Amino acid sequence: MAFEDLTLDLGPRSYTIRIGSDLIDGAGAMMAPVMTGKRAFIITDDHVAPLYLGRLAASLDEAGIAHQSLVLPAGEGTKDFAHLQQVLGAMLDARCERSTMVVALGGGVIGDLAGFAAAICLRGLDFVQIPTTLLAQVDSSVGGKTGINTPQGKNLVGAFHQPRLVLADIAVLDTLEPRQVLAGYAEIVKYGCIDDPDFFVWLEENGVRLAAGDGKARAHAVATSCRAKARIVAADEREGGVRALLNLGHTFGHALEAETGFSDEILHGEAVAIGMVMAFGLSARLGLCPPADAARLIRHMENVGLPTRLPGNRRWDAGRLLHHMAGDKKVKDGKVTFVLTRGIGRSFLTRDVPAAALSDFLTDFIRENTG
Ligand code: GLY
Repeated sequence: MAFEDLTLDLGPRSYTIRIGSDLIDGAGAMMAPVMTGKRAFIITDDHVAPLYLGRLAASLDEAGIAHQSLVLPAGEGTKDFAHLQQVLGAMLDARCERSTMVVALGGGVIGDLAGFAAAICLRGLDFVQIPTTLLAQVDSSVGGKTGINTPQGKNLVGAFHQPRLVLADIAVLDTLEPRQVLAGYAEIVKYGCIDDPDFFVWLEENGVRLAAGDGKARAHAVATSCRAKARIVAADEREGGVRALLNLGHTFGHALEAETGFSDEILHGEAVAIGMVMAFGLSARLGLCPPADAARLIRHMENVGLPTRLPGNRRWDAGRLLHHMAGDKKVKDGKVTFVLTRGIGRSFLTRDVPAAALSDFLTDFIRENTG
């Protein structure tokens, strides 16, 4: 069981991000050192449970950790108040104690929901992330953002609650659908675009292999992404500044997701891919970024099979996208914080995008890049 360990350095709340193959079979032994008790409560979904719950349970048995589990329906709809209530009820019925370790076994939905339940049950339980999607391994399982969706928007209710350990088992990615792999890949490209141009070059050379299933390439990309995220979160845990760079492509992307009802029409990672193309496009339009860099990003996305254009099955409207952006969590004093770029690996934050330039850009983008 070869693995690589990274550390997210947050003083006494620091934790290890372990990346390797078949980690689930050793999860119990890996969790034991960070546990204050001998009990775990596993939260997972009905896609993941048949594949991995048995192996996780066996590893906990082997380590002498008693466990109970709750299996929820798979899908974004599970990240709501009703399921949070169900999770908390199940945890309390199971008589979870302060020393019970909550285990999130699943993708971003399970990680966010289980992490939030851990944050508020008995005023805070420790939890472990075992992310089973590429997107969760490179983004949502690291950094302590937890929460649920409400009718008012995505992730508007939640807490910063750091896990005690993240186990990113690369082997579980083999059972993911290719579309889900690519959605996670978009977040990997993001790290290259933020501040790591060498990693972007590596992705240009290895992205297709990675998407096709190459384990070594996947492990390298997950480790590089987690290292970047750990560095940024360690510098700015609560997103007072630099952590907002991780939202590259997300302000545009969230607007696309909101417009399509957060449905499977555009997966989050796909929205981030198109959103990054838009961020580069707007940056080029404003004279901040060489158009050649925007074109290079599009070329790479197309090479690996990520979408770079808006789906042609609906009418897109600049005003509606602007309306969604105005509802973004990161609005401050009525102004949206944008992540723009001076080129591949040179992203920066700004609140000074002129409203007319943004509106014109969206109108033109919709006209030129739909279908
Ligand atoms: N997904 C962005 C962040 O964790 O800050």
